[in-house]
Amino acid sequence: MAGKTEGKPLLEGQVVVVTGASSGIGRATAVAFGGHGAKVVVNYLSGDEAADATVGEIEAAGGEAIRVAGDVSREDQVERLFAKAADAFGTVHILVNNAGIQQDAPFEKMTLDQWRKVIDVNLTGQFLCARAAIREFLRRGPQPEVSKAVGKIVSMSSVHQAIPWAGHANYAASKGGVMLLTETLAQEFGHRKIRVNAVAPGAIRTPINRGAWEDEESLKELMTLIPYRRIGEPADVAEAVCWLASDLSDYVNGTTLVVDGGMMLYPGFRGNG
Ligand code: NAI
Ligand code: BGC
Repeated sequence: MAGKTEGKPLLEGQVVVVTGASSGIGRATAVAFGGHGAKVVVNYLSGDEAADATVGEIEAAGGEAIRVAGDVSREDQVERLFAKAADAFGTVHILVNNAGIQQDAPFEKMTLDQWRKVIDVNLTGQFLCARAAIREFLRRGPQPEVSKAVGKIVSMSSVHQAIPWAGHANYAASKGGVMLLTETLAQEFGHRKIRVNAVAPGAIRTPINRGAWEDEESLKELMTLIPYRRIGEPADVAEAVCWLASDLSDYVNGTTLVVDGGMMLYPGFRGNG
């Protein structure tokens, strides 16, 4: 993607909140936004050093960023996150609803706590952050010199919004919910010039799925699920998110951009069926 439109950085003058930006996809996304000229609010659950590293990387490249700790599943902490963003940068133009976790278990052994935790962070967290962002978009109103849209939300979904995943019922249910939350918000707020889209990554090399790539045998097995025959890197996802948040995608609303090397293409059917 060209980094500039009409000679200025793609996301210049825009403020983005990236949840879960101290690691993995969120970190790479925050750094990419900084590189495209956005002011970045780096949210994370805990571990100040990792969040500082994200902020430091953005600043080293000439960008602006702050870190704000906060649990996306807690209403008061989400309110605080958006208040801090407004204090620092005046408003918010873009939300990347990225924070997410796995707590895997065979279904018959899954505890209510494991179910609730994953739904709370992955789905309720996206509800709370999207609501706070939309309230701010509506309060601020249009700024056509900054962006064609009043606000943009990019939901971090997963191929598991569509691919059932045995042993991960809580996670798959949360991402299925993210897909319909995304589509519903896009339908509800399109006429207010707010765009809501999702990115659905396949297997991306981050701490969330370390077991799938850290040894050769697991990685080899993973490759049977990926027609493009490589694991994704966080940067593969980050640029897709930036595009969806930019005016380059102004007519894209309520869709999911799949970034998965072809994982959703039923790879088991190659030479089979
Ligand atoms: P990660 O484990 O590297 O990063 C997760 C981030 O979320 C961390 O910054 C952590 O501090 C934050 N976080 C966790 N709980 C939080 C909470 N309650 N409040 C605020 N922040 C919280 O994971 P990764 O892989 O970067 O995942 C990011 C998103 O991408 C998740 O929504 C995940 O479901 C999704 N995803 C990841 C894929 C992968 O293969 N890595 C594939 C498809 C989707
Ligand atoms: C999960 C990863 C998994 C990937 C592909 C993601 O949503 O968080 O653990 O590797 O989907 O199955």
